[in-house]
Parts: sequence; structure tokens; C-alpha cells
Amino acid sequence: MADLDEVKDAKEYHIGIPQKSEAFFLKGSNNLDWGMKNRLARIFNPESGRTVMLAIDHGYFQGPTTGLERVDLSILPLVPYADTLMLTRGILRTVIPPSMSKSVVLRASGGTSILKELSNEEVAVDIEDCARLNVCAMAVQVFIGGEFERQSIINMTKLIDAGTRYGIPTLAVTAVGKEMVRDARYFRLATRICAELGAHYVKTYYVESGFETICAACPVPIVMAGGKKLPELDALTMAYKAIQGGAAGVDMGRNIFQSEAPVAMLKAVRAVVHNKATPAEAFDLFQTLKNQK
Ligand code: R5P
Repeated sequence: MADLDEVKDAKEYHIGIPQKSEAFFLKGSNNLDWGMKNRLARIFNPESGRTVMLAIDHGYFQGPTTGLERVDLSILPLVPYADTLMLTRGILRTVIPPSMSKSVVLRASGGTSILKELSNEEVAVDIEDCARLNVCAMAVQVFIGGEFERQSIINMTKLIDAGTRYGIPTLAVTAVGKEMVRDARYFRLATRICAELGAHYVKTYYVESGFETICAACPVPIVMAGGKKLPELDALTMAYKAIQGGAAGVDMGRNIFQSEAPVAMLKAVRAVVHNKATPAEAFDLFQTLKNQK
């Protein structure tokens, strides 16, 4: 108990200096509660306003995809260079050391495999387990135009409702079925639906034409999905164009962990996202780091 003897009278009230009330740095997030904002500020760097998410959740429907056969060996060396890890609770509990202080975005939908209709997902994690795992956001796949469109949207709104009770944001991941055209019109529709229904940020693919209209029409941050493995310069160029178009970061998997030099690639992506590097500068960095290895 505090010593009550010789208690000094408080006198430094700084009358005339109003307490600051600053706006939260992230688009569309100013009216969220403290816990939500704090978690988002652990995903998005408050300095740059952006994030480099490392996606390694592929196993939840694909099994041990190339580069993720041994997450302990291939991914742990990358962790220091990512802002956030996007992964399943199985990999988190079995492979990632709890001493890791990076933010975690937990894969929270599932229930199908590559052998079946992918849009037939459900919520696959209890909100209490998300709190127990101290995650900073929950990721849910949303299949606009897909066979189980409605079910996937309801999965998202259920997670948003549960997350709101606990202060845990929801990342909506726009999943494109084989039959869907990947253009700006489609992604404007998909991302806007997710944001209108309460998603705190949205992951979507880059499109060459009109990506900036997707970002402009979405009232919450957009992070660019990586997609299939590209040559490193092409992947860096895509990330650069997405950032120029208004993306608040990237969520990349295969283009990093399937690179011939994953740490170098992750550092090069960071340079684009956080340090305004051009594709040529970032590729130069990639090659220098790769050769050092
Ligand atoms: C599903 O679509 C997932 O979110 C992926 O497993 C993952 O995030 C994709 O990452 P990338 O396409 O960059 O390999």
C-alpha cells in the first residue's frame, strides 16, 4: 500500500494545455474501441500506416503446400521481418514459439479442402480461443458470387459480432471462384460488401486496371493478396503498384516463402511497403541480399 505520510499536494495541472485527442491513423477505424485500435496498430505500423503480412495459412485447405512442408524450418527465420503472421491455430500452437512478439492474424474459417467446393466454409474457431491465443485479428474467406456466397458472408458477420464483443478485428479475404472475372468491378463489389457489413480491413487481389477505384470505394484499409508465385521483380512491381493505388499493405505468402531467397524477398517487399522503394530499388536490394547469402 502506498505510504500516506508526507503526501505531496498535486499541483502540476497544466491549466490551459488541453489534453490531446488524436485521430487514429487507419482509414475508417477512428470510431472503433481501444482494444480494436490497439490490435490494428500491432498489425499496421503506425509510422507508415501500412503492414507486411506473411501469409502461411494455406494448409487449412491445401495441406503441406510447397514451401510450407516444414514451417519450423522455412518460416521461423522469416518471422523477424514480417509485421504480422497470418496462420492457423494448429501451426501457431505447434510451431510458433509463444515468446514471439509479432501480431497474429488467425485463420478463422475452414471446413473444406481442395478436393471439394471451396466456398462451403464455416466459422472454424471459437472467439474465446482467439482471445486465448491473443490474436490481433481473425481472417475469414468471403466468396462473393460463389456457390456458398451467403454462408460465407454470414460467417464473416458472425465473426465480426463475436470479435466486437472482445475487441478483436476481422479481416475479410475476398476469395475468387474459378468462374469469376478478376477485375476492378468485381473487387469493388466484393470489398465494399465486406466493409459495409463490418469487416475492419479487407484482403483482395491486385488488378492492373482500376485498382485505385477498389481502394477508394472501400471505407476500410485494403491489403493486397499475393497470389501464385511470380518472378521476384514482377511480385515487387505488383506490390508497388498496389501501394501506389492506395493499398495499406500486402498479405503475401507464396511470393515470399517460395522465393529462391525468402528473407531477401521479404526485406525487399518491406522496402516497397514501408520505405517507398521503387520496384527497381527493391529488386536491387533483393539481389544484393540474395548474393550476400
Ligand atoms: C486463402 O486463400 C488464403 O488466405 C491463403 O492461404 C493465403 O493467404 C494466400 O497467400 P498467397 O496467395 O500470397 O500465397
